Amino acid sequence: MQKSEVFILAIESSCDDTAAAVLHNDKVLSNVVANQLIHNQYGGVVPELASRAHQQNIVPVIDAALRKANVQKEQLNAIAFTQGPGLMGSLLVGSSFSKSMALALNIPLIAVNHMQAHILAHFIDEEGFEKPTFPFLALTISGGHTQIVKVNDFFDMEIIGETTDDAVGEAFDKSAKILNLPYPGGPLIDKYAQLGNPKAFTFTKPKVPGLDFSFSGLKTAILYFIQKNVAQNPSFIEENRNDICSSIQYTIIEILMDKIKLAVKETGIKQIAIGGGVSANSGIRKRLKETEKKYGWKTFIPKFEYTTDNAAMIGIVGYQKYLNEQFETSKVVSKARISF
Ligand code: KG4
Ligand code: ZN
Repeated sequence: MQKSEVFILAIESSCDDTAAAVLHNDKVLSNVVANQLIHNQYGGVVPELASRAHQQNIVPVIDAALRKANVQKEQLNAIAFTQGPGLMGSLLVGSSFSKSMALALNIPLIAVNHMQAHILAHFIDEEGFEKPTFPFLALTISGGHTQIVKVNDFFDMEIIGETTDDAVGEAFDKSAKILNLPYPGGPLIDKYAQLGNPKAFTFTKPKVPGLDFSFSGLKTAILYFIQKNVAQNPSFIEENRNDICSSIQYTIIEILMDKIKLAVKETGIKQIAIGGGVSANSGIRKRLKETEKKYGWKTFIPKFEYTTDNAAMIGIVGYQKYLNEQFETSKVVSKARISF
């Protein structure tokens, strides 16, 4: 097998973003994402609407990815797609399309775990971005997951801590909803947080043993705090938006940092990589970078476009699996829940 000239088309459709990318070995030639704005008015992702939007978007998105990469479909060596975890209706659109296209082109089909992809996005060859060496710790923080993963090798990963209830992205989005901000609220909290005082208000951190997380208590505490203050001053949110956002973000980052510090202590591993939508957060990026000087850690922060859901990260896992000849038949099934 000629392994130095591998072209992979990657397709991601696990939640509410329809994405396609073309990779040449570990380099990204194109990375196209169609966000589904339809969900904004509902305050969260509506699964049925997501599947329908994927069906509308998938052909134009793949077409755009191929055109931007200047690659003909006949040049492709394999198709990689997200097998799970995710919304079943959304996953099925990507997997069915990938199966048909791989069959039509008579090329291998590669199934990719979305959470592994968030971690392995760090192995995309990008100028100015160093790749971690094994073993390292990955903090995967997204709208659906919050995990600390010990990454021993490309496909040897161990979850050593995870959320027992809400994911950290949900903590951001649900807090934003309480503040009457549109979905997804994470980026907006980040924006206002940068203008406020992180110590203006104090929220109690949950007491969860070991490396696990909990965010549902924080959400409730924020709700009661807002209700109490709005009862006294109906303009409380508008008058204090920046300080409220900054204090919420500060508390969330403290919770994450406490657990990473513990994970470093327990494993002795000082290389930390972050991934997932919430790793776009400016406060988290800044706090993590500070640890390099403070504690002698080495931190890896993905390029912005590889943080939230994208297909380039599916492509880099596809490339590794292609090298290992880890291929699937068209009998492969999508999985709403999937571990490592
Ligand atoms: O990884 P992702 O795109 O989708 C999932 O697999 O869930 O993550 C989406 C999550 C949302 O909760 C969104 O609010 C959050 O990432 N997010 C952020 C930021 N950008 C995206 N949260 C905080 N600060 C940000 N800048
Ligand atoms: Zn994701």
